[in-house]
Order: sequence, then C-alpha cells, then structure tokens
Amino acid sequence: MKRDLLSVRDLLAEEISALIGKAVKMKAELAAGTLPKSLAGKIVGLIFLKPSTRTRISFEAAVFRLGGHPIFMTGQDTQISRHEPLADMARVLERYIDAVVVRTFAHSDVEELAKFASVPVINALTDHSHPCQVLADLMTIREKRGTLENLTVAWVGDGNNVANSWINAALRLGFSLNLACPPGYEPDRELLDPALLKSNGKIRLIADPDEAVAGADVLYADVWASMGREDEAKVRMEAFQPYQINSRLLSCAPPHAIVLHCLPAHRGEEITSEVIESARAPVFDQAENRLHLQMALLDWLIGSREL
Ligand code: CP
Ligand code: NVA
Repeated sequence: MKRDLLSVRDLLAEEISALIGKAVKMKAELAAGTLPKSLAGKIVGLIFLKPSTRTRISFEAAVFRLGGHPIFMTGQDTQISRHEPLADMARVLERYIDAVVVRTFAHSDVEELAKFASVPVINALTDHSHPCQVLADLMTIREKRGTLENLTVAWVGDGNNVANSWINAALRLGFSLNLACPPGYEPDRELLDPALLKSNGKIRLIADPDEAVAGADVLYADVWASMGREDEAKVRMEAFQPYQINSRLLSCAPPHAIVLHCLPAHRGEEITSEVIESARAPVFDQAENRLHLQMALLDWLIGSREL
C-alpha cells in the first residue's frame, strides 16, 4: 500500500527514528560516491504554488542523485491555473509518475491529492505544516547533539506551519517543546489545545521568551510573516519585536544550546545577523540535511522501499 507524508504524525516514532538513521547513512554514501541509484526509472512530480529555494532544489537534487527524474510544475503552467479539480489532476498524474511533491496554500489540497492519487504524495509545505523541514531538523539535532533523548526545543515567534509540525513531532516523539508566541499568534488551536493536554506538560505555551529558552537545547526561529501573510508584515513587526532571537535572548539559554532557522531568514527581524552568523547557529548544515532526509524519504516510499 502507498504511504503519503502529509504530516509528521503520519509516521510512527520508530519510523521517524529509522528515517533519520537512513538519511545519515545516505549522507555518508553520497559523500563516498556509493549512493545506490534506487530511483532509476522513477519520475517524481513537484507541484509548487509558492516560491521555494531549499525544498524545490533539494527535492530535485535528491531525485537526480538517486537516478530518477524530477518534473517541476507551477500553478501557472498547469491547468491548476484554470481550476482543474485536484481530484482529476491526481488521477491523471498517477498514470505518468511515481510520486508527487506538493507545496501549496490550503492543507486540504494535499489531502485531496493524496486521497485520489494511487502514488505517494509528499507535503512540501502548506499553510498548516512543513513536515519535511522538521524531520530534517530532527536529523540535524541528532547529529549535533548525538541524541534526541531528553530534548527541549524552544520555538520563538509565530505559531505558523513549521511550529505546527514541531507540535506534531513533539507529540510523536515525546520531547519537550516550549512555544513562545505573541498573544494572538499561537499555533493552530485545534492542534495545540489537545496537544497541551495530551503531552503531560511537555508541550507548553510560554509567552515570555526568556523563560521559554531557559533550559532549551535548541532555539528555533522562522519568519514573522509566512508566505501568503506578507500583507500583515507591518502589524506583525511590532507584536513580534520581543521575540527576536538575539545575543541577549541567547544568553538566557544554556551555553550548549544551538539556534536553528528553517530559512529564508530576515536578519534584524526574527534573528540578528550576529546570532545567525555565529557558530551557535548551524543553519547551513540544517539546510543541507533537507537533501539527505528527502533522499531517505523518496528511497523509502518509491525506491528500495526499505526503512
Ligand atoms: N525552509 C524552506 O522550506 O525553504 P524554501 O522555502 O526555500 O523551500
Ligand atoms: N513559515 C515559513 C516557512 C518558509 C520555509 C513560510 O511558510 O513562509
């Protein structure tokens, strides 16, 4: 049976752990020139209705590295721009290609594609979540810290799509997640409220960023206005000011704490140049791991099928 990746919660804890292990192995194989061409003869479609640097290029590179062929599509150059139903698109694409990677606005779009396509559908970011990002980030944390045991992540800023995926990851893996969001900018309440109850106090909403980062192993930043919310940027700028990751805030965290940012970053807004350019913020190692994690994901879903 096909598997989709629409949310981190589509995976069991053991599967997340195995996927990260596989990504670490494939990273070493890529460096050694021994990566198996497990996608030879496979075609992966990428439908992107929002801009992307990392996700698009790392998915295309992952497919090429594994010997497959990617086809990149935007809304404009497909019949999506003329409102062809996604259910029809899904049942057409499945006749041509082996998997579909989708970046879109409404999360229901990826659900609709997954429901109608007989091939795996991978969420490459929706307004609601960004599972590939957080899975790769967990790989980075495991590499930097050696383990995901006894982990505390402090999310500082907007309760956006990436924050929602962190909640899903914390629910699955049971690590501690402190969410420091300005009032009114908390993550999706339908996800958050049951998560606060279910996590036995491990997922916490902490309005004060100083308190949220105290005891954290990882501080995490993302833009204050996500794609599609640019018109709110000015209003948000004011509300989010106390949530900037700067040297002062970092000094409230333990000395071993690292800073991650999914990128693209707006220096001087959610993070200062000083912090992002420092050794405390391995953001380019983090971006690199998108490639390795997605190689592992594609190999699992449509390549060797092993995890
Ligand atoms: N982090 C991330 O998803 O970046 P892109 O928007 O460039 O893909
Ligand atoms: N929250 C950001 C993530 C970008 C990778 C956005 O949706 O724009």
